[in-house]
Order: sequence, then structure tokens, then C-alpha cells
Amino acid sequence: MLLLPVIRLATSGDAAGIAAMSRSFIEQGLDWSWREERVLHAIQERATNVAVITEGDGLLGFGIMQYRDETAHLALFAIRPSRRNRGLGRQLLAWLEKPARIAGIERLRVEARADNTGAIVFYERQGFRRVKTVPGYYSGLIDAVKLEKRLQPTD
Ligand SMILES: CC(C)(COP(=O)(O)OP(=O)(O)OC[C@H]1O[C@@H](n2cnc3c(N)ncnc32)[C@H](O)[C@@H]1OP(=O)(O)O)[C@@H](O)C(=O)NCCC(=O)NCCS
Repeated sequence: MLLLPVIRLATSGDAAGIAAMSRSFIEQGLDWSWREERVLHAIQERATNVAVITEGDGLLGFGIMQYRDETAHLALFAIRPSRRNRGLGRQLLAWLEKPARIAGIERLRVEARADNTGAIVFYERQGFRRVKTVPGYYSGLIDAVKLEKRLQPTD
């Protein structure tokens, strides 16, 4: 049977897998802050979407977007290494971006580790531009690059 990747809202059963992916692929070298309980809390938050991209029972990636009045913040985002460079990140980000456009939110914000050039290039390809670098943003150890994307209501 051919299985295709599906994007959907996360349920509580996804929380442990998301937390494990955050520890392995995003928070490496830092304190593990996105543990299962914090992910569960985000899943229950009304103004937050936790989205997963799955294939059968397998978790391929996830993203957490917090929506506010004028901005939305992409708090966490990753695709499993074996499934990168196939457009899944682009599709997942567009899925999370859509409610922001519908709600008339003006801009998206995200931070990436300054040494994570792959993610920075990925975000730039999705229309983000670098705003500033914040020294020691992550646990006082690693600099962050802040990026922003303006959303056009007509897009
Ligand atoms: C960043 C990340 C989410 C990209 O996901 P992906 O599924 O591989 O990205 P896509 O295949 O959708 O790529 C979309 C575009 O970004 C570009 N891109 C993606 N990863 C890239 C990389 N490492 N270096 C350069 N360009 C990259 C692709 O070439 C593609 O460009 P195109 O649209 O011009 O063809 C993934 O590499 C990842 O999970 N990284 C580890 C976690 C992380 O850093 N998260 C972000 C910080 S919270």
C-alpha cells in the first residue's frame, strides 16, 4: 500500500515523539526545554497550532506556531533527517502559515541558531529576511538570528 505524507494537527499521542525530535534535532547541546509536558501544553493552547507531518504511524516532522494579533511566532520546527530536502518543510510551513493569513496577521517571526545555516537558508527561501543577531540567545551560549516574513493580505 502506498503511504503519502499527511499534515494534521497533533494530538496528545504525538507529544512524546515531538519532544524527542526537538531534543535530537533542535536542542542538541542545550538544556532540553521542549519536553513532553510542554508539547502537550502547546497542543492544548487555543492560540497555538502544533502540526505534524506523518506517514502511516511514522512522525516525519512537526511545527509549532503561536498566533497573536499582529504576529505569529514559529516556536519549533523540524523534519526528520532521512526525509529532508523533499519539500516537506516547505509544505508544513505553508500549512501553519495559512491560518495567519486568514486571520490578517501581518508578519511571521522565527529564531534560528546562528550556526544553523541550513535552517536560515530554508527560512530565507520561504520569504523570511534576517532582522538581527542576538548574542547568547540560547542558554547564554549560542547566538540566534531573528528572521521575519511579512504576509501580504492578497497572497
Ligand atoms: C530546516 C528544515 C526544517 C528544512 O526542511 P526540509 O524539508 O529539508 O526543507 P525543504 O525540502 O522543504 O526545502 C525548501 C527549500 O529550502 C532549501 N533548503 C532546505 N534545507 C536547506 C539546507 N540545509 N541548506 C540550504 N537550503 C536548504 C531547499 O533547497 C528548498 O529550496 P527551494 O525551495 O529553492 O527548492 C530541516 O533541515 C530541519 O529539520 N533541520 C533541523 C531542525 C531545524 O534546524 N529547525 C529549524 C530551527 S527551529
